[in-house]
Amino acid sequence: MVKRIGWIAAAVITSTLAAFLFLAADLTEQQAASPQAAKQMVPDNPSEHTPPAQPIPYSHKKHLALGLDCKDCHTNPQPGKLMTFPDASKCMLCHVTVSKDKVSIEKLAEYAKSKQAIPWIRVYAVLPGVAWNHRVHLEAGVTCETCHGQVRQIEAMSELTSVTTMYSCLNCHEMNHAKTACDTCHKH
Ligand code: HEC
Ligand code: HEC
Ligand code: HEC
Ligand code: HEC
Ligand code: HEC
Repeated sequence: MVKRIGWIAAAVITSTLAAFLFLAADLTEQQAASPQAAKQMVPDNPSEHTPPAQPIPYSHKKHLALGLDCKDCHTNPQPGKLMTFPDASKCMLCHVTVSKDKVSIEKLAEYAKSKQAIPWIRVYAVLPGVAWNHRVHLEAGVTCETCHGQVRQIEAMSELTSVTTMYSCLNCHEMNHAKTACDTCHKH
């Protein structure tokens, strides 16, 4: 555990610009010190959050247990606002052989063959027009799990945290001395 925290801290620090150094160390400390502290930065979603029925029953738990990393499937291209979803062809790197006779994998193979994007039902979304950007948060050293919860432990993705609410944005900005003026997130 200690080793892993050390590794995360090292990874965060080396991958972060010098300007973000203090902030990153600060955030990492809070996140590593106790899961409670990390939880407080973004509260759990108190409303009912049943996972949507997806076109293919993809499991984060199963796939992350294989040693895959978030970045293997979700990249953050310019301008950094959105994370990507993986192409079906990426899934087929394994599934050309793994479980290829299962119905779900046959469906996956069809998407890959027709080069169609898999029509995943979206889980997290902020209202259009709000200034949101993943990159600034990743560069500040905030982890995926701080905002999206214990993704490694869930079979079906659902809205585990309340990160899309204005309260959560403001709460975390206050805790980390980030900007809280209205026009930080609402441009006119
Ligand atoms: C093998 C590929 C793969 C890996 C690795 C992976 N994901 Fe995903 N992720 C997906 C796919 C496919 C979806 C869409 C289906 C779904 O929602 O389950 C998705 C959906 C999501 C969503 C929901 C997005 C939305 O709003 O609809 C989040 C959040 C997410 N992933 C976070 C993570 C995190 C955090 C990690 C690492 C701990 C991770 N993922 C690792 C493939 C992957
Ligand atoms: C690194 C290899 C690898 C990649 C990449 C991968 N998978 Fe898998 N997938 C597996 C393995 C291994 C299993 C587990 C087989 C088991 O435990 O029964 C599995 C199981 C599944 C299953 C359950 C099949 C069943 O009914 O038993 C589905 C559905 C699935 N994967 C979808 C996907 C999707 C969608 C993607 C791309 C977003 C993807 N996989 C990417 C290796 C991979
Ligand atoms: C500071 C909080 C925060 C962090 C850190 C964060 N996310 Fe998100 N994520 C969000 C919010 C908010 C949304 C909804 C944004 C929207 O409406 O497009 C989202 C949406 C997504 C989506 C759906 C596509 C998109 O961009 O809208 C995926 C996939 C995702 N996140 C994966 C990840 C992964 C993987 C990481 C870590 C590398 C990560 N997120 C880190 C808050 C965060
Ligand atoms: C887990 C903590 C956390 C959460 C949750 C969070 N933020 Fe942030 N956000 C930060 C930190 C830390 C910075 C400061 C980065 C810096 O100063 O370089 C930041 C910076 C920003 C910036 C750039 C501000 C600027 O101009 O310098 C915007 C815009 C922003 N966040 C919007 C949002 C929105 C919208 C949400 C909610 C959907 C959100 N944030 C949720 C921690 C968070
Ligand atoms: C750190 C980012 C952030 C800051 C700062 C912020 N908001 Fe918001 N605000 C949001 C987000 C995210 C939503 C959308 C929540 C959702 O999708 O449910 C929102 C929604 C709203 C809404 C309702 C939806 C709409 O757009 O009509 C109002 C009104 C609003 N904010 C006003 C304010 C005011 C006034 C301030 C300053 C006191 C402020 N906000 C500061 C992130 C922020």
